[in-house]
Parts: sequence; structure tokens; C-alpha cells
Amino acid sequence: MASIIEIEEYGSSSVLTHKTRSIVSPKVGEVQIRNLAIGVNYHDVYVRSGLYKTLKLPGTPGCEASGIIEKIGKNVVGFEEGERVTYLTREYGAYASHINIVSEKVLKLPSTLKDELVATNFLRAMTVEMLLNRITSVDSSKTILVTAASGGVGRLLCQWASSRGVKVIGSVGSQEKILETKLNGCLETFVSSDEKFSNKVLDVTNGKGVDIVFDSVGNDTFESSLLSLAHCGYLINFGQSSGPVQPVLMSTLAEKSLSISRPILFHYFGNRKNYENMAASVFKAFEDEIIKVSEFLPFDLKDASNAHDTLESRKGGGSIYLVP
Ligand SMILES: NC(=O)c1ccc[n+]([C@@H]2O[C@H](COP(=O)([O-])OP(=O)(O)OC[C@H]3O[C@@H](n4cnc5c(N)ncnc54)[C@H](OP(=O)(O)O)[C@@H]3O)[C@@H](O)[C@H]2O)c1
Repeated sequence: MASIIEIEEYGSSSVLTHKTRSIVSPKVGEVQIRNLAIGVNYHDVYVRSGLYKTLKLPGTPGCEASGIIEKIGKNVVGFEEGERVTYLTREYGAYASHINIVSEKVLKLPSTLKDELVATNFLRAMTVEMLLNRITSVDSSKTILVTAASGGVGRLLCQWASSRGVKVIGSVGSQEKILETKLNGCLETFVSSDEKFSNKVLDVTNGKGVDIVFDSVGNDTFESSLLSLAHCGYLINFGQSSGPVQPVLMSTLAEKSLSISRPILFHYFGNRKNYENMAASVFKAFEDEIIKVSEFLPFDLKDASNAHDTLESRKGGGSIYLVP
């Protein structure tokens, strides 16, 4: 029998219900994976709460996991039973002991990378790869602001950007998170709720402002992110941990000739070749320790609701995973 988490209706973490199901054989083009470590992302919270209505109910959430191939369906080439693999999927279903998934979404894992590292940070690292390499070019001539600089995506973004000599300024929700951001490469970090936040950013950039803001907090930081930008600056809003951003007037952008975008990782894969190239870049960054994560927080799959509560309490992002 497979162990799964199912959502019947949107709501708080209590809607994440543990069930068992019989295991069916993979269809043509699919492989069956026994998940060993399942990633827990903010996306899963939006799916559970109903903010995103992208999971057909009743349904099993979860976009990523690492595991072992147990069975191979017809017409699948390039994979073998027993191989260690990972996957990202927009069709969900990762909160389960077993998943049948089309082989195009599956990637072989380098033996050097541990299951918990990949399950907790592959999607996040792919997001950083998209932000730094596909959306804009970020090099040592640039100064950037990263909101939630100690969050799961934020810390990898600070590490990867600072390794290129980019001047990184961070923002965090509380004073005690500042030290960690310095270890991740931030030259300066300010508390996002500080009334003088954007003035402080202007001060440390000689009155100019930053070239790019990477904002994943959304509603609470959006205004200060715009105020922190230099002329011709670029605001990349890629998340909404504090809630969705309100509509913006074009005339607001005209005040400093600003650009703005709202990218989604899955749109940047495009095709299998892109997916493989981005993954290879991420695996190398992990292997070279350009990006690193040292602490992990496992939860039993049955305790998925506790895992969500921990994530939503602004703790543990990038370290939380489920074990079937
Ligand atoms: N566009 C894409 O394709 C893409 C891909 C991956 C992730 N994302 C998005 O990026 C965002 C961050 O993801 P993540 O994996 O880094 O999450 P995470 O590890 O949980 O970090 C989120 C951080 O946001 C901050 N935050 C500010 N206000 C918050 C609030 N009201 N509730 C909870 N946290 C709040 C917290 O840091 P402080 O306490 O320091 O403020 C928290 O640590 C999410 O919205 C996620 O959906 C988007």
C-alpha cells in the first residue's frame, strides 16, 4: 500500500489528511518512484489554503521529492530500476510514499548530493538559477537587494550572487536573523519593518539605490522595494510570503524608469533540454558549495500539517522535508 496525504477541501494545515492507497503500475512513459525525502514549499501552502486553485480536489499536493525508481513503464528510455532520482512537477502528488510520474520530469541524482538536501532545496535552487541566469544578468558591477534574505530561497540567492562578487543587501523580518544573512554573503542587512528601511538602503548605496530587487515577500515589502531601487532599476517579484501585491500604476514606474516582472519557475524550463541545463547548473553549484545548507528538519509524512505550521511560522524554510 502507498501512504499519501490528501486534501479534500482548502483550509488550514488540518486539511492535510493521511490515507493509504493501493499502488498501481506506471503507465506508458511513466516511472514509479519510491520517495525517500519530500520537499515542503510555500507553493504547497498556497495550494492547501486555496490561494492557488491548481490542485484538483480531492488531491495530493507536493511538487518535489528525491527517491528511487522502483518500476519502469513502457517506452521509457534512459532510466533503470534502483536509480536515485529527483523531480519537479506542476501536476503535484509528491506528498506520498510512491508516485507514478512521466519520465521527462525525472532527473538522475549525482551520488554526492544527499536526499534531504535535494528534497529541501532543489526547487529553491532552480528558482535562484532562473533569477540569476535566465531573467537578468547579475555580475560584480551590480548591487542587489534580497528580501527574506535568511529564508529558503533568499539564503541561496545571497550565497550564489555574492560568490560572483555582487554587492548584496538583505532584508529580514527580525533582528536575530541578521547574523545568518551576513554568513550568506550580505554586506548589509536591515529589518524590513524599519520605517527608515529604504533610506538606509539609499545611505549604503551613496544615495543611488540598488540595481535589482529580488522580492519574495510581496505585499509587506513591495513599496519599500520600489523605493530602494536606483533609476532604471529592476524589481523582480517572485513570491508573496506576506500576501499578494496590490495593483501597480504604470506612472509609479515612470518616476524612476523602473521595470518589473513576476516570473514563475515552471515557465522557464520550457523544454527538457532547458530543465536539464538548469539542473546541471544547480547540481554543480551544490557540489562546488557555492550554495549550501547545513541544517535539516524531517517530519513524518503523516505529520505534514506540523511541517506546514512550522513553515508558516517563518521558521525552517529550506530545511523542512517529509519522510514517508
Ligand atoms: N516564482 C517562483 O517560481 C517561485 C519559486 C520558489 C519560491 N517562490 C516563492 O518565494 C517565496 C519564498 O519561498 P521560500 O521557499 O524561500 O520560503 P521560506 O523558506 O518559508 O521563507 C519565506 C520567508 O518570508 C518571510 N516572510 C515575510 N512575511 C512573511 C509572512 N507573513 N509569513 C511567512 N513568511 C514571511 C520570512 O522571513 P522573515 O521572517 O525574515 O521576514 C520567511 O522566512 C514564496 O512565496 C514562494 O512561493 C516562488
